Amino acid sequence: MKEIRFGIIGLGLMGRELASAVARWCHLTDVTVRPVITAICDKAPPPGRVEWFTANFPTIRQVCADYRELLANPDVDAVYCAVPHHLHREMYCAIIESGKHFLGEKPFGMDRAANDAILASIRKTPGKIVRCSSQLPFTPAVQKIFGRIEKGFFGRIFEVNTGFLHSSDLNPNKAINWKRMVKINGEYGVMGDLGMHACHVPFRAGWQPRRVRAVLSKIVKERPDGKGGMAPCETWDNATLLVDMLDPRSGEAFPWTLRTQRIAPGEKNTWYLEIYGTRGAVKFSTKNPKRLNLLEYDGGEQVWQQEDVGFEPAFKTITGDIFEFGFPDAIQQMLAAFFHEAAHGKPLTPAAGCATPEEAALSHRLFTAALASHKNGTTEPV
Ligand SMILES: NC(=O)c1ccc[n+]([C@@H]2O[C@H](COP(=O)([O-])OP(=O)(O)OC[C@H]3O[C@@H](n4cnc5c(N)ncnc54)[C@H](O)[C@@H]3O)[C@@H](O)[C@H]2O)c1
Repeated sequence: MKEIRFGIIGLGLMGRELASAVARWCHLTDVTVRPVITAICDKAPPPGRVEWFTANFPTIRQVCADYRELLANPDVDAVYCAVPHHLHREMYCAIIESGKHFLGEKPFGMDRAANDAILASIRKTPGKIVRCSSQLPFTPAVQKIFGRIEKGFFGRIFEVNTGFLHSSDLNPNKAINWKRMVKINGEYGVMGDLGMHACHVPFRAGWQPRRVRAVLSKIVKERPDGKGGMAPCETWDNATLLVDMLDPRSGEAFPWTLRTQRIAPGEKNTWYLEIYGTRGAVKFSTKNPKRLNLLEYDGGEQVWQQEDVGFEPAFKTITGDIFEFGFPDAIQQMLAAFFHEAAHGKPLTPAAGCATPEEAALSHRLFTAALASHKNGTTEPV
């Protein structure tokens, strides 16, 4: 099995999640490549975090606080970076220009200018795999939906709805963190935080956003600052976008609603996708991750059917196919897709490929237009 030496920058929530997926790589049965964590980097890791990494990964030879040291390490072939958004521009450009394969967290730049700079670095340093993190399309039911899109199952598509909903910010006593600060999270607010997840399937399907009307909301305006006082909550909590989409297959337009919400009562971490067409329709939500709702229309009765999709991901595993699939599994599948591309230069299947820099760039065009739309009360070109 080919080994790829792997460095992780940012040892927070996501850095640890990705490392855990590497730790149980033996879960995957037919992969041809294996990541080996050789280096980790964090400027201010949570207490005990470095020890968690070094205790669980004896292969780690370098622990550093300055990402440039990790990039200078010849024993690192590929990098994952999960740091706050204001750092994406500088660090992502440096990682790409170091000539290593790179999986970067969304939104892939805090704003469009940062994303443009990251794309310029890719053009300047071609030849390596650069991808944007977005794991939920690796859910087996969604992989099946991709298959139906490719086969033209839906007929003429006339409506698509996607979204990503969180509820924890409904609690006004939740302390502020960097995702509520414009200078660290960016002007996009919730769109930068959750938006790429909701764009991945429509963009991979090839549907083209043309114009957008957005309504953005700031609901909780201040939060405890963790030091006994209150701090302003500057970012958009919720965003609802109505997008005029073109389906190049049919040449027809359809409305796409994209909802990203930090304040969606009762929704812990709900990612959903609905596609409606003249011959077929699907509905999927992570609220019920096995359940694929399907309607196939041939002129007879219009009947919704429910299929339980088990553990049938793109990259095969030891888990029996009757069992349930979850968040850590989607992360591991995404990582398998990244390393598969790094080793073979192309994805296992079109649906089992990580989000590309071009797809991330399209999300930036959409969110930038959405900001203008909300500000001016206008419909904006994407
Ligand atoms: N794919 C997903 O489902 C998902 C979920 C959550 C967050 N994210 C994304 O992951 C990224 C990080 O989010 P998180 O929730 O893991 O954040 P986090 O705050 O938990 O962790 C970020 C880490 O980066 C470190 N860091 C800060 N400055 C640094 C520097 N100069 N050099 C090295 N390390 C530095 C911090 O000390 C911290 O440990 C963001 O882009 C976020 O949007 C993705």
